[in-house]
Amino acid sequence: MPQPRKIAAGNWKMHGLGESLSEARALAAAHTAPGVDILLCPPATLLSRLSEALAGSAVATGGQDCHTAAKGAHTGDIAAAMLADAGARYVILGHSERRADHGETSAQVAAKAQAAHAAGLIAIICLGETLSERDAGQTLEVVGAQLSQSLPGGADAANTVIAYEPVWAIGTGHTPGLEQIAEVHGFLRAGLPDPAIPLLYGGSVNAGNAAAIFAISDVDGALVGGASLKAADFSPVVTALEKSLR
Ligand code: PGA
Repeated sequence: MPQPRKIAAGNWKMHGLGESLSEARALAAAHTAPGVDILLCPPATLLSRLSEALAGSAVATGGQDCHTAAKGAHTGDIAAAMLADAGARYVILGHSERRADHGETSAQVAAKAQAAHAAGLIAIICLGETLSERDAGQTLEVVGAQLSQSLPGGADAANTVIAYEPVWAIGTGHTPGLEQIAEVHGFLRAGLPDPAIPLLYGGSVNAGNAAAIFAISDVDGALVGGASLKAADFSPVVTALEKSLR
């Protein structure tokens, strides 16, 4: 059976100006022949410049959202084909910040993923429970429902990545226990339409905890926010993922 690809993905969220291109260049210079897939998802304003700066390197780029439609009268929105045109290979969809800030539902996330696939992009579909859902013992129920409702038909290992990101772990410095991550990842793996779809963990991953998280079976990499902004912080996470393969 094919093994899932290993992926270190950086999510810059609403951070980054032109000066941040040097961080991306430094990351690429530190990983010229990586044993894993590396990508950075900058704000849309930087996507084209970042893709050009990283052309020919081992670091790919991605968007942070796309519209469900291929084009149209949707002021302020971005179509998947526009991300691809700006050099993206990936797009993050259904991040909990978008689900919370913009009321995105899993059905909308599935429609966005379908649009992403139609444009030839790999969709990184995010899911995860809130702290009150975890405390109420609903974690597997919540992520199971998000998984079944957020994936479009035709999702497979070539076009889809799943990121499990407990909402309470994002940007807080708190991570779940390793056995808690293992439980959710094992549960998600069993529910995937294609078992080779990579399963990333996200939420306060950094140089200090990456190796332990990557040692968990069914963790195929990480979606990293804060620690992806600087090459000096993200590079050790990439290296930890490479080492986990040996
Ligand atoms: P964090 O964010 O690494 O800053 O916790 C992760 C994410 O939201 O993707």
